[in-house]
Amino acid sequence: MPAFKTLDDLDLAGRAVLLRVDFNVPMAGGKVTDLTRIERAAPTVRELTAAGAKVLLLSHFGRPKGKVVPEMSLAPLAPVVGAVLGGTSVAFAADCVGPDAASALAELPEGGVLLLENLRFHGGEEANEAAFADGLAALGDLYVNDAFSAAHRAHASTEGLARRLPAAAGRLMQAELEHLAAALEQPKRPLAAVVGGAKISTKLDLLGNLVAKVDMLVIGGGMANTFLNAVGVEVGRSLCEHEMAETAREILAKAKAAGCDVVLPTDAVVAGELAAGVKTEVVSVKAVPAGQMILDLGPATAEHLGRRLGDCASLVWNGPLGCFEVPPFDAATNLVARAAAERTKAGKLLSVAGGGDTVAALAHAGVLADFSYVSAAGGAFLEWLEGKTLPGVKALEDAA
Ligand code: 3PG
Ligand code: MG
Repeated sequence: MPAFKTLDDLDLAGRAVLLRVDFNVPMAGGKVTDLTRIERAAPTVRELTAAGAKVLLLSHFGRPKGKVVPEMSLAPLAPVVGAVLGGTSVAFAADCVGPDAASALAELPEGGVLLLENLRFHGGEEANEAAFADGLAALGDLYVNDAFSAAHRAHASTEGLARRLPAAAGRLMQAELEHLAAALEQPKRPLAAVVGGAKISTKLDLLGNLVAKVDMLVIGGGMANTFLNAVGVEVGRSLCEHEMAETAREILAKAKAAGCDVVLPTDAVVAGELAAGVKTEVVSVKAVPAGQMILDLGPATAEHLGRRLGDCASLVWNGPLGCFEVPPFDAATNLVARAAAERTKAGKLLSVAGGGDTVAALAHAGVLADFSYVSAAGGAFLEWLEGKTLPGVKALEDAA
């Protein structure tokens, strides 16, 4: 377990708490289209306000690169956050540092919530500038970081603040770190990893780290084609990084040396194009027709994977196994995800998933609530799978 402080270690009553959240939420036409990140931060906000703290919410939104970009203002989120909190009124300050922030804070009652404007309107945030971090720190007595999904950034609000104020992890950060540690640092074995997605070139560090840690590595998605190609299989017109063949063979060799069993597909669903309702065929991976593309793992592979998960005690999942957005190429992802969900519900598997498309794929399979833990993070989850030190987490550990 990483050693970091939590809300249990802070004396909160009457204190101004700088709470770093990740409200970098998807928006369309001025409306938030997915409240997950706000909902997941809500328990920490409630706990702080119930303890009599004044809560200053800090977040980035988009990538305005140090300039005020009105479309990237956090102002529209204040009422949304209030609604998620259950009808609380949430004040808003038009700047995250300086007189606007200070005067809004002066009016905030104990137990009140104040949302500060987008941190990234100041270049000092991403540059982790001392003067900017000092300006933020001047507003509060305590710092709580609940933004695991931004912890791969060494910014003023994710890193600098933890070195300036008494610092602790919020409940969401705590839950992320505890579940991730249970899955990959001290797992019950056998431990499996399922890794899918389009390309291995974006997941080299991740695969390299995982083969040294897991007992079984399942490779799906487009990247499985690259591995198949690397071991001499003709993949037709399938997505395939031919230039990565040598790298793929190196990963397989590293896995072998580490005693990690790499499971590649034996059959595939192929079609002439990626489109709904297109004519499909199930073939052995050794017999992919030259004009066809692999768009999903085949049913024999999917069933085999479901069975193999039946022997595992822990699972880390990142990336879909096929083109799940376009049925019927969602079949393998659905089948394997449901097998993992069933075993988790039976209390026999600790299942942790995260990163980009993964949440959408598990939601599509209808199993989001059945996994032990689904991370709200994209890039931070990937960097954690790569075995990298996350600056935001390191700063909390250093402060403990
Ligand atoms: C995310 O959405 O992945 C996080 O909020 C980090 O955002 P960033 O990639 O712009 O730093
Ligand atoms: Mg990102």
